[in-house]
Amino acid sequence: MFEHVAPYAGDPIFRIAAQYQADQRENKVNLTIGLYFEDDGSVPLLDCTQAAEKHWAAKKLPRTYLPMEGLDTYRDGVQRLVFGEQSEAYQSKRIATIQTLGGTGALKVGGDLLHEAYPDSQMWISDPAWDNHHAIFGGCGIKTNKYRYFDAQTQGVDFEGMMADLAQLPAQSFVLLHPCCHNPTGADLSKEQWQQLIALIKEKQLIPFLDMAYQGFGQGLDEDAYAVRAMAQAGVLFLVANSFSKNFSYYSERCGGLSVVCKDQAAAERVLGQLNAWVRKNYSNPPSHGGHAIATVLNTPELYQGWVGAVDAMRARIHTMRQTVYDRLTELAPHYDASYMIKQQGMFSYTGLSSEQILRLREEFGVYMLDSGRISVPGLTTKNVEYYAKSLAAVV
Ligand code: LMR
Repeated sequence: MFEHVAPYAGDPIFRIAAQYQADQRENKVNLTIGLYFEDDGSVPLLDCTQAAEKHWAAKKLPRTYLPMEGLDTYRDGVQRLVFGEQSEAYQSKRIATIQTLGGTGALKVGGDLLHEAYPDSQMWISDPAWDNHHAIFGGCGIKTNKYRYFDAQTQGVDFEGMMADLAQLPAQSFVLLHPCCHNPTGADLSKEQWQQLIALIKEKQLIPFLDMAYQGFGQGLDEDAYAVRAMAQAGVLFLVANSFSKNFSYYSERCGGLSVVCKDQAAAERVLGQLNAWVRKNYSNPPSHGGHAIATVLNTPELYQGWVGAVDAMRARIHTMRQTVYDRLTELAPHYDASYMIKQQGMFSYTGLSSEQILRLREEFGVYMLDSGRISVPGLTTKNVEYYAKSLAAVV
């Protein structure tokens, strides 16, 4: 049995992360997978989440099943965080939201819903992409394609190319977009560009799926939700996946949300039913531990304020590392344009290094980044940033 089953080549991100783990060198640097590290190299367990976990554990509740859509308090918290409490879409109850297994779980359930509702539609994904986007939507039975996104010359968004590609699409095509902190490039659209894109989406009747995995890591929790809120305000009907893995440092608890913005409350209720049907077919219902903790933080003012402060501190540390690398490389390798470190934002940046340079960094210096040249900036700390800048200067 299974003789015909091919070996798994491994995931491009987890594979390099495992290579880093296996490296015995003490000065090795981990810029691979998207994990937020504190300046001492540890992955934080936030005070607000610990307090919420304790509070929930003390209640000694039985572990019965959650509803397929998850906890009501969690779902309401997601809507307020993603869309804003004042949002007309939130106020008029035309958003269907479920608690999901991280952002990835949200993409899967959303992909299943989309493919069933529009079986002939295809998905367009930025080039370059988070590889798993193609894998997830392909797994839902959706054919995936690429639209132009990154301009290596400017180290920013190829907005003209992107708009030209999207303008060609048939009505009801699915378009995967990152509202902030684009993975893998860190290059984001400006507010003006979002407005132009929203106009195009309306004109061409496209169906956007926004993947917001890094809310709070760019400019702020509200600022990073600009595209989501602008789209809702413009009357676009769309999907949003959001993740608490990074901004709650809660990776293994698999906490995320899927929201579908509908025409009216009746449509949102029908869509919620279909989302539940897909949850039931995929994994039946979400787990409760992390869900209760997140719901408690989102609904308890002191804990919420503590969380906002923690996100602010994470974002500030990322900014400091970006600036430090830029400053040091400007001195150490003035011929190498490191301005992407301060132009791009969020967890990731694209270094533009060649395969040879990336391999040399890995083998000679123990500096690990993805094969694409993507670095996960929070892997840099005051302890290793000078070593990183010097290693990079040595290979460019
Ligand atoms: C990443 O891109 O490194 C993160 O989103 C983690 C993952 O699951 O790939």
